[in-house]
Amino acid sequence: MEFILNDRSIKTDKPGGMTLLDFIRYEKHLMGTKIGCREGDCGACTVLIGSLSEGKMNYISMTSCITPLANAAGKHIVTIEGLNMPELSPVQRAFVEAGGTQCGFCTVGFIVSLSGYCLTAKKPSYEDAITAMDGNICRCTGYKSIERATASLVGKLKEITSKNRIEWLIRERFIPQYFQNIPERLALTSPLASNLGGEGRLPNGRKKSIVGGGTDLYVQRPEELEGGEVDPFFDRSDLRGISVNNASCSIGTSTTVTDFLQSVEFRDIFPELKKYVKLISSTPIRNMGTVGGNLVNASPIGDLTIFFLALNSSVTLRRATGQKRTILLRDFYKKYKTIDKTDDEFIETISFNMFGKDTFFNFEKVSKRTNLDIASVNSAIQLTLKGDVIKQIHISAGGVGPIPLYLKKTSAYLTGKELTPDAVIAAIEVVLTEISPISDARGSKEYKALLLRQLLFAHFIELFPEKFEMEKFA
Ligand SMILES: Cc1cc2nc3c(=O)[nH]c(=O)nc-3n(C[C@H](O)[C@H](O)[C@H](O)COP(=O)(O)OP(=O)(O)OC[C@H]3O[C@@H](n4cnc5c(N)ncnc54)[C@H](O)[C@@H]3O)c2cc1C
Ligand code: FES
Ligand code: FES
Repeated sequence: MEFILNDRSIKTDKPGGMTLLDFIRYEKHLMGTKIGCREGDCGACTVLIGSLSEGKMNYISMTSCITPLANAAGKHIVTIEGLNMPELSPVQRAFVEAGGTQCGFCTVGFIVSLSGYCLTAKKPSYEDAITAMDGNICRCTGYKSIERATASLVGKLKEITSKNRIEWLIRERFIPQYFQNIPERLALTSPLASNLGGEGRLPNGRKKSIVGGGTDLYVQRPEELEGGEVDPFFDRSDLRGISVNNASCSIGTSTTVTDFLQSVEFRDIFPELKKYVKLISSTPIRNMGTVGGNLVNASPIGDLTIFFLALNSSVTLRRATGQKRTILLRDFYKKYKTIDKTDDEFIETISFNMFGKDTFFNFEKVSKRTNLDIASVNSAIQLTLKGDVIKQIHISAGGVGPIPLYLKKTSAYLTGKELTPDAVIAAIEVVLTEISPISDARGSKEYKALLLRQLLFAHFIELFPEKFEMEKFA
């Protein structure tokens, strides 16, 4: 496998399942990248990953502790050492001047994330720069000094005049000179994860684990993957992307949450997409986590799963032989963590019917922490109106049963009803017959049932504020 690590060309036969963090620290002895949680949660291990597309570099942040080495193939990996120059960069200087670093353990991650923002921001804004660091946790500073550092940096970034961002960033000493030649060097670097690809088996006959971004697998069973080969799906161009026509929208299984946000078509379909996406994980995890990973992980609270259930989506599964079958997503989940997929099948696409101007969609999530937390309960709704009557409705709910739930009875109950607060209040009785929450760290079963009731009300208040007011549901 080949890639560029900072300014060095790398050729390695290390297993694709090894984490990028271990490769960086223990094979290349670059100790600037820190180890905190090893679960994608703290951002101490953040690196930038640059890919070449149509002659231009696109850099995104990733948490290297849960990134398989295979996902580095053909890319430019940037650690803090690759950003360091004899003098401090404007990002580093802003942190020093604002007192944005104390013990310093988190600082590398923050600097890398913010430098990544400088490499990509088309219209620099304070809000977006802060979002770029939403996967980084600091235990010392209380964040205020980091916010001040960011504000002063964004002021400087707005001075960009040149169309060639990389040139400007080099001239202003944000990044070292070697960035200039990365596109030419990467064009000569093999993008293939060498012998790792294909839907094959390991020498012992066991099937290689399919890995998307690794954000579930490396948290749940890292020891199974770290020493071995994997089947990397993340960069498979045949499985990545969103295609839309008048009738339907089809999404490749390796499409990431960030891809959704960057898709003009997807933003047109879901005008509130940015608001929903902000509720899901953090910037680096959104850069890594794929839709296929979320569906197959089969968590009862998977946000993308709940989102797509309410779109009444279908998944297409493919065998290595090329045989395909398509089923409704709601039929994919059988019981806790049990899905309708054989060992030799993988998800190829998920698709849903496009909707017109009388169709409305909303997604809601409640978690213990507003950001970077999994849901206590989440829910989505899609409904089509004919006048004041609900012509069609699909409601999903997570965290209230052993599988991500499609609320079939409730959806059937509301179909044909007039859109009134009374109808929604009456539907709550039906909801209670089809959920079975359990008490756990995220709340008691009674609390979760209550949360779902509130989320259902929230959908209607959000979508039809003129008809539904909070007081009506008191
Ligand atoms: C810090 C952190 C925060 C998170 N926050 C959230 C959150 O807020 N909401 C949320 O929903 N999730 C969250 N997650 C979970 C995770 O990011 C998502 O579930 C993500 O979509 C998983 O995608 P992946 O590509 O990383 O999956 P991977 O870990 O690569 O794979 C997961 C499973 O899917 C299988 N797989 C992947 N693609 C396919 C395919 N095409 N066909 C068949 N099998 C496949 C893999 O073999 C594996 O079993 C979080 C994770 C972390 C680490
Ligand atoms: S070590 Fe905490 S996110 Fe990687
Ligand atoms: S400066 Fe100590 S953790 Fe941030």
